[in-house]
Amino acid sequence: MERKLVFAVNGERFELAKVDPSTTLLEFLRTRTRFTGPKLGCGEGGCGACVVLLSTYDPVSDQVKEFSVSSCLTLLCSINFCSVITSEGLGNTKDGFHPIHQRFAGFHASQCGFCTPGMCMSLFSALVNADKTSRSEPPCGFSKITKFEAEKAIAGNLCRCTGYRPIADVCKSFAADVDLEDLGLNTFWKKEAKDANVGRLPCHDQGKICTFPEFLKFEIKSSVDILDNSKNTGLPESQWYRPSSIRELYELLNSDSFSKSRVKLVVGNTGSGVYKENDLYDKYIDLKGISELSVIRRDSEGISFGAAVTISRAIEVLKERKESEPHSNKRLVFNKIAEHMDKVASPFIRNMASLGGNLIMAQRSQFASDVATILLAAGSTVCLQMASERLVLSLESFLERPPCDDRTILVSVHIPSWSSAMESSSGIDGCIVSEPTREANILFRTYRAAPRPLGNAVAYLNSAFLAHVTSDKISRDLIILNLHLAFGAYGTEHAIRARKVEKFLVGKVMTASVLLEAIKLLKETIIPMKGTPHSRYRSSLAVAFLFKFFQPLVKDLIVPEKNGPVDSSGVAGITDYPNGDINECADILSHRVSHSEQLNNPNVILSSKQLVEFSNDYHPVGEPIKKAGVEIQASGEAIYVDDISSPKDCLFGAFVYSTTPLARIKGITFNSTLASQKVIAYISINDIPKEGKNIGGSNIFGTEPLFADSLTVCAGQPLGIVVAETQRHANMAARQANVQYSTENLEPPILSIEEAVRRSSFFYVPPVFYPQKVGDLSKGMAEAEHKILSAEVKLGSQYYFYMETQTALAIPDEDNCIVVYSSSQCPETAQGVIAKCLGIPDHNVRVITRRVGGAFGGKAVRAIPVATACALAAFKLHRPVRMYLDRKTDMIMTGGRHPMKINYSVGFRSDGKITALHVDIFINAGITEDISPIMPHNIIGALKKYNWGAFSFDAKVCKTNLPTKSSMRAPGEVQGSFIAEAVIEHVSSFLSMDATSVRKKNLHTHDSLILFYEGCTGDAPEYTLPAIVDEVASSARYLDRLEIIRHFNICNKWRKRGISLMPLVYRVALRPTPGKVSILSDGSIVVEVGGVEIGQGLWTKVKQMTAYALGQLSVDGTKNLLDKVRVIQADTLSMVQGGWTAGSTTSESSCEAVRLSCNILVSRLMSLKQSLEEKMGRVSWDTLISQANMQAVNLSASTYWVPDSSSVVYLNYGSALSEVEVDILTGGTTILRTDLIYDCGQSLNPAVDLGQV
Ligand SMILES: Cc1cc2nc3c(=O)[nH]c(=O)nc-3n(C[C@H](O)[C@H](O)[C@H](O)COP(=O)(O)OP(=O)(O)OC[C@H]3O[C@@H](n4cnc5c(N)ncnc54)[C@H](O)[C@@H]3O)c2cc1C
Ligand code: FES
Ligand code: FES
Repeated sequence: MERKLVFAVNGERFELAKVDPSTTLLEFLRTRTRFTGPKLGCGEGGCGACVVLLSTYDPVSDQVKEFSVSSCLTLLCSINFCSVITSEGLGNTKDGFHPIHQRFAGFHASQCGFCTPGMCMSLFSALVNADKTSRSEPPCGFSKITKFEAEKAIAGNLCRCTGYRPIADVCKSFAADVDLEDLGLNTFWKKEAKDANVGRLPCHDQGKICTFPEFLKFEIKSSVDILDNSKNTGLPESQWYRPSSIRELYELLNSDSFSKSRVKLVVGNTGSGVYKENDLYDKYIDLKGISELSVIRRDSEGISFGAAVTISRAIEVLKERKESEPHSNKRLVFNKIAEHMDKVASPFIRNMASLGGNLIMAQRSQFASDVATILLAAGSTVCLQMASERLVLSLESFLERPPCDDRTILVSVHIPSWSSAMESSSGIDGCIVSEPTREANILFRTYRAAPRPLGNAVAYLNSAFLAHVTSDKISRDLIILNLHLAFGAYGTEHAIRARKVEKFLVGKVMTASVLLEAIKLLKETIIPMKGTPHSRYRSSLAVAFLFKFFQPLVKDLIVPEKNGPVDSSGVAGITDYPNGDINECADILSHRVSHSEQLNNPNVILSSKQLVEFSNDYHPVGEPIKKAGVEIQASGEAIYVDDISSPKDCLFGAFVYSTTPLARIKGITFNSTLASQKVIAYISINDIPKEGKNIGGSNIFGTEPLFADSLTVCAGQPLGIVVAETQRHANMAARQANVQYSTENLEPPILSIEEAVRRSSFFYVPPVFYPQKVGDLSKGMAEAEHKILSAEVKLGSQYYFYMETQTALAIPDEDNCIVVYSSSQCPETAQGVIAKCLGIPDHNVRVITRRVGGAFGGKAVRAIPVATACALAAFKLHRPVRMYLDRKTDMIMTGGRHPMKINYSVGFRSDGKITALHVDIFINAGITEDISPIMPHNIIGALKKYNWGAFSFDAKVCKTNLPTKSSMRAPGEVQGSFIAEAVIEHVSSFLSMDATSVRKKNLHTHDSLILFYEGCTGDAPEYTLPAIVDEVASSARYLDRLEIIRHFNICNKWRKRGISLMPLVYRVALRPTPGKVSILSDGSIVVEVGGVEIGQGLWTKVKQMTAYALGQLSVDGTKNLLDKVRVIQADTLSMVQGGWTAGSTTSESSCEAVRLSCNILVSRLMSLKQSLEEKMGRVSWDTLISQANMQAVNLSASTYWVPDSSSVVYLNYGSALSEVEVDILTGGTTILRTDLIYDCGQSLNPAVDLGQV
């Protein structure tokens, strides 16, 4: 019987006869359904943009199970008889939005919106599962979720634009234990009115969404007999096999057709998020059908998990309390393993990821697994099936074997029970002192350090330690009886036991000198493999974790750790336990360890307070209204470039880029693989029309080539694009490109600033971008009492991490024209470049940008090569072509922030007043200019925030063989401010003065401000910075806290706190901007601006301004004009001279252009309004417009606003104060509190602006 793949998406039935088995659920949803909610952000399970709810149904128990998954890794064939819910399935424009969508909107928790549907689904999954628990019913309107769970619901979902506070507020708003008044600014209640109550929130109605449609239940029930009787419930037509036993599995593997094929065994397929697949497979075998692999057995010996059990399920089981294990000591190991597993990946990965898959990756591919390390310390064993042989091994032996082949199956893993009876009940091979019956306390702790404490960050090092400790009845000394020390992920082939250290410690009394000796031995053991990044840090972490574990046991090492000067709840001395009683000893040990963990706990609930001043003077401008279109962003209906349906015959492109910084290209071939068979065309420099040019970018400083010619000048430079029938095939095929390089007779590439300086490789900086020096440096230096000469600061690069990578869709049109949808901050420039590349006039090229899924400067110049390459392929092939860069390509090709090296000399007096500063700045610009020549201007602009007395500098923009660096969020200003603060800190530490007093001493007076920022300072009252700095200091109680911190640092050896307050000056420069307002015959209004909606709230502010400006007509109905305004996408043929969306000025200049356009309309309509009012009394907006239409009034007006010289540049001021704690042992940092004041004049929309914080 032919088997079909049957499943439901948002309640709709899908039945597929034949599917490419490598198709992911995300690919299917995005290319074969109308649903656009699940987005592609990384394709690696690492961002959460693609999260959907997956539900399964068990016909026997009649139970539905719901869980979140990353659809980018879930294989479509694996969801047979499952139900999928996307964000549109919760609610949408047609059926009404879901309370989750409405709360995201009302709490201002979505900016570009690209992450929002995935966030909604993670939250929905958490609510559904919390509401299913047996907890008591929450008050009406709340879920059973706790605020702690709610905040963690979105762990692993990345958002690049919105501060996480509003998102966390949305999640917590569902928890009954939250104080609603603590939640941030929202549209549901006025903060100052103190009338927060759940009744004002869109009502949470559990069970409203049907997660599993009845028809699918019915189909499952009716097919259950057929399925039970069949040997293999896979989808053979689709080359997807699902054996139900190990025997069936080997029958398949040993069959002829399998031995000649590329076969992949899968469970959750999340491994493909870690190791990208470069080629296709012929056949897939789903191991989840093998019941033995899903069995969980728990008895007095321990817990056995079938290898296909997911990490989430394992956590549930490990946390379960069993009547047979009343003593908490017995559950300690299981609980700690569960706690650690909770930090592995994210909920939506753990729900799919199997324990077995993880251990196989650790064994076979050197994966930096947490699971392997913690199970190793717990003395676990594994059961392997190798053809007909079955083997039970310790996990340690398994990891030490040569990598297992793809015919070896991991059947199960067993975690033994551990108790105070010292030995594990399964008698595992720990180092044991020779008194096995002695009573002991068990200690088990796990540790991990990663770039982020929660969610999707592989550890630098992980470890887990298990010890049995007893006390000598007479001396009360603590003795280690049994010890397992496991370490992993530090650049090792697999997790290891530190056997030498174990052997040394067992039987010893824990003293400081014993611990020191153990540390020495450990340092000899934990040696990362050559080439491991941060290897010294990783080795030191191993020592730190060992120290953390043993410190509470070492009596001569007890150092009180206190929270503050009056907090005496720190740990007691080790001899404090009365009478040497062993159980009390256990409690004290446990208290000590967990107390210090609690203090370092990254899981504390976030809280915040906002003070915003509103004004109704320009209603509705300045009001905190919710963002335009935010509900459709949340429901996933908002259309980004990749959401536009592919036109007929659409093809997909992927870049082939250079992997060598400087080389001649001798040729390009493709490996003969399944993936390369998918190539339809390869487009390169040879395909540029003869009327066109090899151009892929442009700005005021010049142009850059689209493709390398015979010479590639940086790794990451595009060489051409592979075109295929699907994006996945194009991406895979591009990875099969084999480029032959030659470096013969070429100089070595320039890869560093030092080399660029040595070879004088610099870009020209036009004098207009080279700011003026201030004062006389030698005079300033002569006035100094102290000097620091030639200090150095270095700054690295930074990647944009917009959630939507670079993307474009090009559609050839009639008469040599082309329409290009581009995710771009400057469609106008893209239009010009595409036209030049194709050799056609600008008016043949229409570039359209509706919204952008995050930009941060990376979609200005760097978006243009993508749009141009796409247009070129479409032009050449006469077919639509789209490109959506995979994350790796995007990261390699898009250069990011400029790395820099700075040398400075500074002179200062003993009171901290700086008298002279000279800086030499070297900026690594990469291979082409891009906007780099403006960098000196921006860096110096920010550096001048202090009065340095005399100030001089030299700035060089270095040309190197690295990918071009480009504008990135406050390009140069960030670095300039950093340099200024580095100088201040240096001077303060030289003088042993508090840095804040040095900062204050060097803040500008209005007079010095004028000297440093000539022409843009405004009058003295406008210089608010000193007042802002004082206000932050007093409202945040800077001096009190400084004192508390001093005390804290004296009391605490391994944790230190610091507090810092700093000012900011930002020079705003406005650009000419167009705007157009048209009133349609029904009174609705359409607005066009040059700027692009990139998440910053441009459309919302423009709508507010339109409503305000047309509201001047004061006819009935103008109060509600806001709802009549629609701002539409940027279109280069409809609105010319659109310019760039950049520099944090687009909203205000677009609003001004729109205000002026509205004024034109108001003046055209005013006389008509007056004459109508004379005839008929009050007129309504609709009447006015219909009359205007009849009288042929021109109802469309446009302006090109050019800022006048008095307001073209001005200064913005702000100040922030942060208190940070550093864990001295691990280097981990926690921001404890930040206070921030920003003087933005009158915000056009404070809610939108606050969302950035
Ligand atoms: C974004 C992300 C973050 C992550 N973070 C962490 C982390 O912090 N810590 C950590 O420890 N792990 C982490 N992981 C790894 C994750 O735990 C593993 O990917 C997962 O457990 C693999 O299970 P799977 O069922 O998806 O395996 P699959 O992807 O289905 O399979 C992985 C490999 O194992 C083979 N295989 C699977 N099961 C068996 C079996 N029973 N017998 C033989 N071969 C088998 C498959 O053929 C394949 O080669 C992360 C993964 C992702 C994607
Ligand atoms: S997690 Fe799937 S796209 Fe990022
Ligand atoms: S709003 Fe979250 S990524 Fe833009």
